[in-house]
Amino acid sequence: MNARRKAVVLGGHGMTGVKVVRLLESRGWDVFAASRRTGVDLLSGEGVADAMRGAEVVVDATNVPAYDEETLRTFFARAAANIIPAARQAGIRHHVVLSIVGIDTLPHITYAQGKIAQEQAVVESGVPYTIVRATQFFEWLGVMADDFTKADVAAVPDAYLRPVAIDDAVAALVDVASAPPINGVVSVAGPEENTFETWIQRYFDLTGDKRTCITSKEAAYAGGKLEQRSLVPEQATITGAQSFEHWATSATGKAVLAGINVA
Ligand SMILES: NC(=O)c1ccc[n+]([C@@H]2O[C@H](COP(=O)([O-])OP(=O)(O)OC[C@H]3O[C@@H](n4cnc5c(N)ncnc54)[C@H](OP(=O)(O)O)[C@@H]3O)[C@@H](O)[C@H]2O)c1
Repeated sequence: MNARRKAVVLGGHGMTGVKVVRLLESRGWDVFAASRRTGVDLLSGEGVADAMRGAEVVVDATNVPAYDEETLRTFFARAAANIIPAARQAGIRHHVVLSIVGIDTLPHITYAQGKIAQEQAVVESGVPYTIVRATQFFEWLGVMADDFTKADVAAVPDAYLRPVAIDDAVAALVDVASAPPINGVVSVAGPEENTFETWIQRYFDLTGDKRTCITSKEAAYAGGKLEQRSLVPEQATITGAQSFEHWATSATGKAVLAGINVA
């Protein structure tokens, strides 16, 4: 009998990571969900080498644990300084990193600086890799709406979004992790591109939220200005199957829109 393939999911208890763990397990992988909850601290390095021992694939679905400038700028690079030597030592055959479409074009945004450093570290690591850049998740529209809201008006950037269902992004991530590394970038986006304003207003309409959404040339995204097409891929490598309407009427979509945590 063949031994089961082992994968380590860094950030395996986060919003995305928990779904990656479940899907890999359902496809027969032996999976270790690594985070501080399971004794793996990517900043101190504690538990990282042990977590990777015997693994073939690492999927990095981590995110910053806090939103202060220092953490935003340094978390991913500091984590990479522990992840990469451990991955080399364990002979990892495929290092998959979850990133964001367009992130490389936004170096004036502190969070993007962190993600760019994360991508760069993997590219230069010598460990075979694939970077999966996804667009914003449907599940994230409400969080974005709140970020832009002042006094019942959400003033959003003059930009386009092409959001994707988190389950579709996770399926793409797991497909990539199960295939050979490409040492390059794969982009994942939903089926529809529309303006930021249209997406947020649609979210308000669906949830019966009385706020309104307007476009503002002054609106900053994570502290920085966007170009109109900063966050959409010119050509998505993988297009998520679920339209927004399909997602909104699915069990997951209904729960998210009702404010229920579905992780
Ligand atoms: N949200 C979106 O729309 C979207 C779109 C595209 C890409 N992404 C990317 O998706 C990734 C995951 O985002 P998410 O929202 O799913 O993250 P999340 O829910 O905030 O989860 C972050 C994970 O990182 C772990 N973590 C944090 N600090 C750690 C440390 N020092 N050591 C070990 N583990 C640590 C956390 O576990 P513990 O706290 O237990 O340690 C948790 O499991 C991000 O990199 C983001 O850029 C997000």
